[in-house]
Amino acid sequence: MVDANRATKGVKINMKTIPYGHQCINQDDVREVVGALNSEWITQGPKIAEFESALCDYAGVKFAVAVSSGTAALHIAALSAGLRRGDEAITSPITFAASANCILYCGAKPIFADIQPETGNIDPIDIVKKITRKSKVLVPVHFAGYPCDMQEIAIIARKNDLLIIEDAAHALGARYKGSKIGSCKYSDMAILSFHPVKAITTGEGGAVLTNNKRLYQRLLMLRNHGITKDSKSLDRKMRYCGWYYEMQELGFNYRLTDIQSALGISQLKKLDFFIEKRRKIAVTYNKAFNGNHFFDVPKENKDVFCAYHLYPIRLKKDLELKRDGIFKLLRDKKIGVQVHYIPVYLHPYYKKLGFKKGICPAAEDFYHREISLPIYPALTSREIQYIINTVFEVCNRHKNG
Ligand SMILES: Cc1ncc(COP(=O)(O)O)c(C=O)c1O
Repeated sequence: MVDANRATKGVKINMKTIPYGHQCINQDDVREVVGALNSEWITQGPKIAEFESALCDYAGVKFAVAVSSGTAALHIAALSAGLRRGDEAITSPITFAASANCILYCGAKPIFADIQPETGNIDPIDIVKKITRKSKVLVPVHFAGYPCDMQEIAIIARKNDLLIIEDAAHALGARYKGSKIGSCKYSDMAILSFHPVKAITTGEGGAVLTNNKRLYQRLLMLRNHGITKDSKSLDRKMRYCGWYYEMQELGFNYRLTDIQSALGISQLKKLDFFIEKRRKIAVTYNKAFNGNHFFDVPKENKDVFCAYHLYPIRLKKDLELKRDGIFKLLRDKKIGVQVHYIPVYLHPYYKKLGFKKGICPAAEDFYHREISLPIYPALTSREIQYIINTVFEVCNRHKNG
């Protein structure tokens, strides 16, 4: 663990609007990246394995495969799970499109299960209703860094012979029933994203975590064009030539570079501090907003330790129709709020595929009422107070207006 005060030292955010999320990069990170640039290897070198090993140590999982984005991680995880044409995979509509797109990439059909209104996470009861003979994979998404009900989901998966890929893009640093998200205690694989708004960043980047060696080997191949140098699986006559390799299936170039991995290693050392900062901001928001008449705030239950990738508030019913007005006024006042998310099946591309409004009523209701307030480690006390005061001012104006 890095000295807590050093982690945000020297981080300057020169933006006129307070963004909803932001990377936290300081001179320690810059030094590591420069070190990688000055080294023998800028890609396919030792920093990648070092980053993967640090991810395994952090999450308490056996294998990690670092890739070029969270989307790439979802794609190769879905392929490794054996998803293909004719199959169905169940996911949440309250997520970024990538959680469902990975199912389409494999030629399979995404099926959307509704959410629990209090958390925005997939509802195990609706998962059961959506299972058919074609179901093969579940993709629960830990929305905003709040862990899904994984024990319940794992029981459903076991009963119905389904694999689980946790979309943990928001949830590195979160815990469920005392286990770190990423440990894959309740799943076959978990994916991470290292986009700048996430808990740690490599610019773009992602990873798949698993405890399953067979899945791990498949993930390694898919990351690198479907090529293997693993002597045990090579042609018998050729396997002892030092140079020989085979392309055994159609894979991709989804590799992360050593430059990015160096940044990832440096960022990971500060992850616990980053999460602590996010959680402190959430406590301040919770205290200030406690018992207010305008909106509900996220609440942890006894099983979860939230990573607070987002701080999603949900306007109460009587303010629901005013969401866009409130949003606009907050933006006018230089608070970079965001809405997470448009239910995936309401995007025009999904509508063209035949998905219709009304499939997941709780998700649609959540979408109409949600606003994400800024939360990230370098947010200052003054900014937090400004956000709190402005949110009250704007909500009051709309309530009375
Ligand atoms: C829930 C979720 N899954 C997957 C992704 C895709 O990650 P990436 O942007 O690294 O491709 C994102 C990105 O925002 C996300 O929010």
